[in-house]
Amino acid sequence: MPSVYIKTYGCQMNVRDSEAVAAQLLARGYTLAPSEEQADIVLLNTCSVRDHAEQTALNKMRALAADFRRSGREVVLGFLGCMAQSRGAELLRQVPGVDLVLGTQKLHRTADYLDELLRGRRTAVVDTAPEAGSESAIREHLPALNGSTPVTAYVSIMQGCNQHCTFCIVPQTRGPERSRSIRDIVAECRELAARGVKEVILLGQIVTSYGRRPGPDGRPGWLAPDEPWPVADGDGGRPRSPFVRLLEAVHEVDGIERIRFTAPHPKGYGEDLIEAYGRLPKLVESAHLPVQSGSNRILKLMRRGYTRERFLEIVARLRAVKPGMGISTDIIVGFPGETEEDFEQTLELCREVEFDNVFLFKYSPRRNTPAATMPGALPQEVIEERHARALELINQIARRRYAAMVGRTVQILVEGPSKKNPQRMMGRTRCNKIVVFEGSERHRGQLLDVRIVRAGSYTLYGDPAIVGIAPVERGAPVDEAEG
Ligand code: 5AD
Repeated sequence: MPSVYIKTYGCQMNVRDSEAVAAQLLARGYTLAPSEEQADIVLLNTCSVRDHAEQTALNKMRALAADFRRSGREVVLGFLGCMAQSRGAELLRQVPGVDLVLGTQKLHRTADYLDELLRGRRTAVVDTAPEAGSESAIREHLPALNGSTPVTAYVSIMQGCNQHCTFCIVPQTRGPERSRSIRDIVAECRELAARGVKEVILLGQIVTSYGRRPGPDGRPGWLAPDEPWPVADGDGGRPRSPFVRLLEAVHEVDGIERIRFTAPHPKGYGEDLIEAYGRLPKLVESAHLPVQSGSNRILKLMRRGYTRERFLEIVARLRAVKPGMGISTDIIVGFPGETEEDFEQTLELCREVEFDNVFLFKYSPRRNTPAATMPGALPQEVIEERHARALELINQIARRRYAAMVGRTVQILVEGPSKKNPQRMMGRTRCNKIVVFEGSERHRGQLLDVRIVRAGSYTLYGDPAIVGIAPVERGAPVDEAEG
């Protein structure tokens, strides 16, 4: 059977989509190629969030097409995902040699279309049409590829976004919000737990809006079509958003030890979610709170729906519930009209919050977004200069926060060999920090207490001598959240 190589760009949703496509193709008898040179089919699962991501995938595909033309090998080439969705058929003209362009709602058809292309029934396929129910149509997960069960698994809970931030292309590429039912998601988590998965990462473009939109029949978005309409919600007088209900339901799944989610929106951090961190022990003390800017003027132009003050209040509330909360964020520098003063306010916010991790982006105009035509576009040098300044501050703060972990005993979930040094094992603290230690395969999937002995760049090192052996010392400074 033909072999497939899938290369993934962009976010975790894409990583998960690629896994599901791979599983779908394996089930159809295709094999996975170890590299693009050995593949009969090469698929690029693309990202559109910034122009840079699009250009990288376009250049990659052009290089592949040229290589294969030169060597005379007949290889099927396909674009999947967000760029396929937003550019559609124009990709066939932009990159001659491409056979398949498959949008975000059509990934469950990958095997069908490849079959048709390989049998010569079609010469090229472009399908970017919306499809009802697509959010639950691709759910197959990879069977353990290297013989060992993955410790952590992504679970898609919703698709799309209705937020329409002025800079963002995602509502165009992923469509409007649609949620899977709680019943479906819990069933998938149970299946994963039965296979040995210990941690689930609930995924969506805006997970805090989970289940808020009614389903196609006007019923609650988190209810399966054949489930009876809930009579009493049994919340004991505590009003909860559908997302918090989902967290509670996943929390009940035996065998799942940790729950993470990404990506939320700050405005979704209502009191019910903040309080859930104190109530649900499997919900790890880690929050990704994409702030984008520290200036109220810019936040308004971005149409983010919160102020700097409200954002700081959310951070303070989270830290009141869990003092050791790990907090990360996304920031865009160089949004149209951003003044030196606006930018300073972003830096000041970083100093105030002390994020553990910041994903810093240079503003990139996206087609058909309101920000792309706003006045005050900044020269590239200004964007570069602000980016460099912000990065320096962010790294300095993170270094301090990581160094403060040295000497503490923290709980890690061991995921497998470290990527940089496969002789060592790596795990993650509840606050989402990577810990590398001298362990072995037998530690995979275990929750271990390790003493942090050293901090590197965005990595902690655990002392092998006391891994899982020494009890947590009495009086040792155990981080509340991590311990
Ligand atoms: N330019 C730069 N960064 C962007 N992001 C989204 N759209 C753009 C854009 N047009 C960033 C935001 C978002 C992250 C996933 O990507 O910070 O949170």
